[in-house]
Amino acid sequence: MTAGVAVAVAHPNVALSKYWGKRDGPGNYPAVPSLSVTLSGLSTRTSVRFDNSLPEDVVILNGEPTVGRVRERVTSLLDRVRAAAGDSRRAEVVSQNDFPTASGLASSASGFAALALAAVRAIGLDWAESRVSDLARRSSGSAARSVFGGYVVLDAAPVGVTEDCVLPAVSVAPADILPLTVLVCMTTELPKATGSTAGMVETLRRSPYASAWLEEAPRIHARLRAALLAGDFATVGELAEASSLAMHASAIAAGLVYWNGATLDLLGVVRRLRESGLEVFASVDAGPHVKVLLRETDQDVVRAAIDSVSGLKRVVRARPGPGAALESVEG
Ligand code: PMV
Repeated sequence: MTAGVAVAVAHPNVALSKYWGKRDGPGNYPAVPSLSVTLSGLSTRTSVRFDNSLPEDVVILNGEPTVGRVRERVTSLLDRVRAAAGDSRRAEVVSQNDFPTASGLASSASGFAALALAAVRAIGLDWAESRVSDLARRSSGSAARSVFGGYVVLDAAPVGVTEDCVLPAVSVAPADILPLTVLVCMTTELPKATGSTAGMVETLRRSPYASAWLEEAPRIHARLRAALLAGDFATVGELAEASSLAMHASAIAAGLVYWNGATLDLLGVVRRLRESGLEVFASVDAGPHVKVLLRETDQDVVRAAIDSVSGLKRVVRARPGPGAALESVEG
């Protein structure tokens, strides 16, 4: 056996009900359920090549060789795939994002979804999507969701969960169930100071509102899921904004302020547009960017208001999009 190569493309997602908080112990299991929409318009393309002449794994991200924690997260996923296939070959991974990396734009979601799919296929495993999703979840919870397109749920794991528990994300509704447009408003090109794993650990450890978040998140999630299945855009938007604000309130109380001035200005613009009668909502992940949720038909007026915010670097328009897909595979 010499080389096995596969190339996969995946897209980030925005969680409408947020995952923030892990169960204790290994395996990276979520403590709260989340529901996201996978986005077209932003993508990660990853190739994985297993090769018996490589002495060690090589990981190139956006044209640069990686070291330390970033490389380790990739090699841990490769180790799981090698163990499952009974194959010890090392791999070369080349991954490219067409948007800022590790900045709160879910590059870990698209990155680990594309990596999981490419690695599994390159080594010759014929796994179903749900098994690929469980593999991706072990590296990044949100990545489990990006394996699927449209609207996707990742359930909370039970308390006391052990590492052998298989917990994939599941598709709950197709992309066209809601007339949703997402304007991804980028407020910096810089990486964030605290990654989401550290942020979640700090929040549960230090926030006086951690237990309030853990109790409230599943309630918001259940209502949001029902509103989505009923095609109720306004309620989905309201609950998405509520989930994001509750998550950040718990994190801020632990000293984790992911926002900058432009984040607050954008949240203010969205609130004022709503007061003027438009159904527009905002969601912020573990970074300073704002995802504005709106109806396609309101795009021009919303875009004009957003463009007035100084500190706004770039806006990308995204729509509900497809799951991770294989571009090529060679034995
Ligand atoms: O999957 P992670 O470890 O990148 O964490 C994702 C955390 C949030 O993006 C803030 C919320 C979410 O549900 O995607």
